[in-house]
Amino acid sequence: MTKQPEMILIVDDETDIAQVLKLQLEESGYITNWAADGETALQQLWANNYDLVLLDMRMPGISGVDVLRRIRDNCFDSAVIMMTAHGNESLVVECMKAGAADYVAKPFDLDDMMMRIERALENRRTVRLKKALEQEKDDFIFMLSHDMKNPLTAVIGSIDIVREGRLGGVSPEQAEYLQAAIESCQEVVTMIDNLLDMQRFDTGRMQSRISPVNPYALLETAVKHFSAAAERENITLILEANDITTEIAVDSSLLARVFANLIGNALQFVPNGGAISISCDYLEPGQLSNSEVEAIARTQSCSAAPGFVRIRVIDNGAGVSSDDLTNIFERYVQSDNTSKRSHGGAGLGLAFCKKAVESFDGSIWAESNRGEGGQFIILLPAHTNTTTSENSIPE
Ligand SMILES: Nc1ncnc2c1ncn2[C@@H]1O[C@H](COP(=O)(O)OP(=O)(O)O)[C@@H](O)[C@H]1O
Ligand SMILES: [Mg+2]
Repeated sequence: MTKQPEMILIVDDETDIAQVLKLQLEESGYITNWAADGETALQQLWANNYDLVLLDMRMPGISGVDVLRRIRDNCFDSAVIMMTAHGNESLVVECMKAGAADYVAKPFDLDDMMMRIERALENRRTVRLKKALEQEKDDFIFMLSHDMKNPLTAVIGSIDIVREGRLGGVSPEQAEYLQAAIESCQEVVTMIDNLLDMQRFDTGRMQSRISPVNPYALLETAVKHFSAAAERENITLILEANDITTEIAVDSSLLARVFANLIGNALQFVPNGGAISISCDYLEPGQLSNSEVEAIARTQSCSAAPGFVRIRVIDNGAGVSSDDLTNIFERYVQSDNTSKRSHGGAGLGLAFCKKAVESFDGSIWAESNRGEGGQFIILLPAHTNTTTSENSIPE
């Protein structure tokens, strides 16, 4: 495929300069157009996709700076080189801040000008290529995640039908194996969901339905979900009794996935016969410990809340070294815990938890001493009014 010549728009009211540039650029293989004022330039930009604009600073009518601003406001992705006859530095700074790629003082040396033009075009090509690759990667992740999740959900459904004995008798041992198969598939679904949601957070496409939620009820459901897996490994999984009635303003399905990630992690790092304890309580601001106040300040979450709901998932497993306490919330980070079995995972679970909790104006952090178990703590502001809203959470 032959490469399309790049298009350059020269915007200058001085005919001589425009002519010289036009001749030189066309000789170098570019397609050029000329506009003698800003208004005409903008019309040309609407009509054609220019790779580069050579823009005079001072022209009758709209100034070069204003043309530059309109180019950026309208999201034209042309590179812009400003041309100025006056050494007005503050104006140059303004232009560079407004997104100009470079500037040239008139009268200019033609070779220097050509070098700058080539450099600006090269930079633009690199940026565009990077953007295209990013887009391709995003599309691929979305496509792959959807295409992997749908058949997996069907597999879980089918195994569940057999496990329930709806297609004929199933022995307790067979049911147990089928249950384990379901849980393994669900682990993969959790990973895919984490990947999809991180992508949604990154691209500003996360749609959340915020409503008042009782956190204790959500925890009860999460614990029930993991109880069979815990029982199989002789792990005590308890939700401490609490009659907390305080609600929090969250997207309940996102928070349920946060709980599933934390309990799922604890199950991975607790040895057979170990224990996981989950608690949920309400704290007035005055009841917060120093580490809790620090955590709120660190994550810039809602420090002015009239009260907080604290959720803790505590296990007596491998724990996390103090060096890793913060790192593990970064994506793709896995600490080198010596676990009872080498665990899979993509290191996205806690990164997802952090994004989700912070999107609800809360904080999440870990406390642990290597070998003494891990403690994952979430503080969320108590809900004060009863409105239900639909939000697109920004990055
Ligand atoms: N309860 C826990 N006890 C000890 N280490 C943990 C615990 N939860 C998480 N970790 C550490 O944090 C890392 C990141 O966890 P996560 O983001 O959920 O990723 P993944 O589960 O894919 O490894 C884990 O690899 C592990 O090293
Ligand atoms: Mg995990």
